[in-house]
Amino acid sequence: MRTQVGIVGAGPAGLVLAHLLHRRGIDSVVLERQSREHIERRIRAGVLEHGTVDLLTEVGLADRLHRERMVHRGLEVLYDGVGHRIPLTDLTGRELTIYGQHELVKDMVAARLETGRPLLFEAPATGGAELAGPRPVVHFEYEGRSRTLECDLIAGCDGFHGVCRPAIPTTELTVYEHDYPYAWLGILAQAPPSSDELIYAQHERGFALHSMRTPKITRLYLQVAPDEDLAGWPDERVWAELRTRLDRHDPAWHLSEGPVLDKAVTALRSVVTAPMQYGRLFLAGDAAHIVPATGAKGLNLAVADVAVLAAAIEDWYGTGNTALLDAYSRTCLARVWQVQHFSWWMTSTLHRSPDGDPFSRQLQRAALHQLTGSRAAARAFAENYVGLPLVVPGSAGDPLTPAPIGGTSHDPP
Ligand code: FAD
Ligand code: PHB
Repeated sequence: MRTQVGIVGAGPAGLVLAHLLHRRGIDSVVLERQSREHIERRIRAGVLEHGTVDLLTEVGLADRLHRERMVHRGLEVLYDGVGHRIPLTDLTGRELTIYGQHELVKDMVAARLETGRPLLFEAPATGGAELAGPRPVVHFEYEGRSRTLECDLIAGCDGFHGVCRPAIPTTELTVYEHDYPYAWLGILAQAPPSSDELIYAQHERGFALHSMRTPKITRLYLQVAPDEDLAGWPDERVWAELRTRLDRHDPAWHLSEGPVLDKAVTALRSVVTAPMQYGRLFLAGDAAHIVPATGAKGLNLAVADVAVLAAAIEDWYGTGNTALLDAYSRTCLARVWQVQHFSWWMTSTLHRSPDGDPFSRQLQRAALHQLTGSRAAARAFAENYVGLPLVVPGSAGDPLTPAPIGGTSHDPP
């Protein structure tokens, strides 16, 4: 097989990229290791930034999303039994969308199949140095046979455990990593949300999060140990712990409960791979970076990467100039590091440190008091939470490295 852009992985990064390229008249083949049913059922993200939704809407991927989503204009931070609302939309003019990642994946798979361009399921790329070579080739398995896909460029959208990143010589990459001494136990429950908005709770027994997917389905998370065994968490224990951690000094408060539809433990970690390009191989989304889920940013970062990549690829085919492709990694990493910082800050401020260090605990309290008591601090938080502006490569200005607000020492007085 031959195509212009070989896309490894049909998660949000790969599927959005395929669609953006299709709209620009650029051909691609998408290879996905799993079955269609598998990727359409995998429960993951739920919070979409304003910019992500604008982009999906502009390219015709958001019709069902607009019919079925929940729009959020604020969130609650709960500590010491008291909830504090952060009015995100008042502070930024922007809203958030709640819509399950697997629903979005269903919409994007349908849109791809409608274009008639190839999306192969159960077609794992097998890796190897040719992925990162000067004449890119993807080797993959399909219908019991080994096959090859020759391309002009390869987009490694194959997530954190994929084959593209390992194809790049380790001497060419710097990998920045930070592990957290806790994980999340997440459940999806058939129960109406107990509140109209998300609740991020800091509690002496550990962090808890109340989120949702629809008016009938709740998504809830508990901080647990990184090596937590799910077998020790029958449903009743999960509900009891959620009741404790989400409790507040309000007799009217009540956590609604229902059958548990899904239960899993997810590690929290921060990883950045730099650069995100080697030769003609471009990494995007989780293949290049991981953020702890606390900031709800992973899917949004994946979409931001491929928006930059699609524009750079179009420019290269149109002009033969590699300037935007060469700038891909730099452009994306500016956002990635801002988002890493925000996700790290949220994670370290809201979770209970297992060593119970009293100094860190007081710092967390100071941070929460400032967040919930200072409009300036709440606004800085809200700008990050609703999402930084999407960068359009080649356009004037760069919203991610703005001019310093107080000028610099080089500026004339
Ligand atoms: P993936 O979604 O991982 O897709 C990669 C694809 O590549 C997969 O389909 C995989 O099967 C395929 N693949 C792998 N190897 C191969 C191969 N060799 N050949 C072919 N295909 C291959 N993010 C948010 O923005 N908001 C949230 O609220 C949020 N909540 C989260 C909650 C949880 C519990 C978790 C686990 C994650 C959450 N995230 C959230 C993160 C978000 O889900 C990910 O960042 C997002 O899925 C990244 O998309 P991606 O396309 O880069 O990677
Ligand atoms: C989710 O709904 O899955 C969710 C919400 C907020 C987060 C992380 C995950 O910060």
